[in-house]
Amino acid sequence: MATFPRKRMRRNRQAPWIRRLVAENVLTADDLIWPVFVVDGENKREPVPSMPGVDRLSIDLLVPAVAEARDLGIPAIAIFPYTDETLKTPDAREAYNPDNLVCRAVRAVKAQVPEVGIICDVALDPFNSDGHDGLVRDGVILNDETVEILVKQSLVQAEAGCDIIAPSDMMDGRIAAIRDGLDGGGFQNVCVMSYAAKYASGYYGPFRDAVGSSGALKGDKATYQMNPANVDEAFWEVALDVGEGADMVMVKPGLPYLDVVRMVKEKYMMPTFAYNVSGEYAMLRGAGDAGWIDYDKVMMETLVSFKRAGADGVLTYMALDAAKLLKKI
Ligand code: PBG
Repeated sequence: MATFPRKRMRRNRQAPWIRRLVAENVLTADDLIWPVFVVDGENKREPVPSMPGVDRLSIDLLVPAVAEARDLGIPAIAIFPYTDETLKTPDAREAYNPDNLVCRAVRAVKAQVPEVGIICDVALDPFNSDGHDGLVRDGVILNDETVEILVKQSLVQAEAGCDIIAPSDMMDGRIAAIRDGLDGGGFQNVCVMSYAAKYASGYYGPFRDAVGSSGALKGDKATYQMNPANVDEAFWEVALDVGEGADMVMVKPGLPYLDVVRMVKEKYMMPTFAYNVSGEYAMLRGAGDAGWIDYDKVMMETLVSFKRAGADGVLTYMALDAAKLLKKI
């Protein structure tokens, strides 16, 4: 191997053109999935205090926002509902109401911005008075009973026009059940993106504010989401979901779990996504707003780090900001 002075690493860094030429990874708008929060009503734009720059939008405002995302080249969005407290019940039945807020939002976006892919989360937490992703009985999160409801939830979302069903609940066996349910309902072309390696994380705090589930949640989600200390376990979680028919897999949160992203991409060679979650966004944006870091610079560095780790795409609240910067708007 050549060594100094024959080898000078700085030669390949001496000007922008050569740095571009030898770049190993590039971020483009094609890598971005934009998660959005929808709220009932009209002409509503409610800022989420713990996520500066992120608003819950009513459907009439969501549609033009998605059109803007399309114009910026963003291929897909993920829709999350802020559900009215009065609709939350212990059986989470609003989850499979074909006219619930998510389904109405999907229909409206599909009708007016059909070029954008729509991802819907499947889990009960926005609809459950317990704030948990599954049904709760005597303090225990029920697995198999929950999976039955998740299948119903997937079916109403697919019926509304959702392109990718994304189960985020971490119940065992849900991917197979949902795949079979979708196929049985005639939705063979609806994809499943599994939140396969999802950790019990403190980084979800601002999201729970955004969907209004933080007040309800009793205890934590450690009996179904993964222990942050584990990576072998992620190998098994992904193996099961791939075996059950997942088309794409996800690691969540993102930044503190880039080692997991790398492992998953190398072992499974599947379309692999990372979720740059609400707490990661809040830290970055908060520090940016305080003037402690350069938000734009740290945003681009953060997003390319996902590519470097092997992710095919990133769910990020910074999607619009990043796409604008890429387009130099
Ligand atoms: C719901 C769900 C959560 C997120 C996505 N889907 C929260 C949770 O599991 O408690 C978090 C997203 C984010 O923090 O940005 N199951």
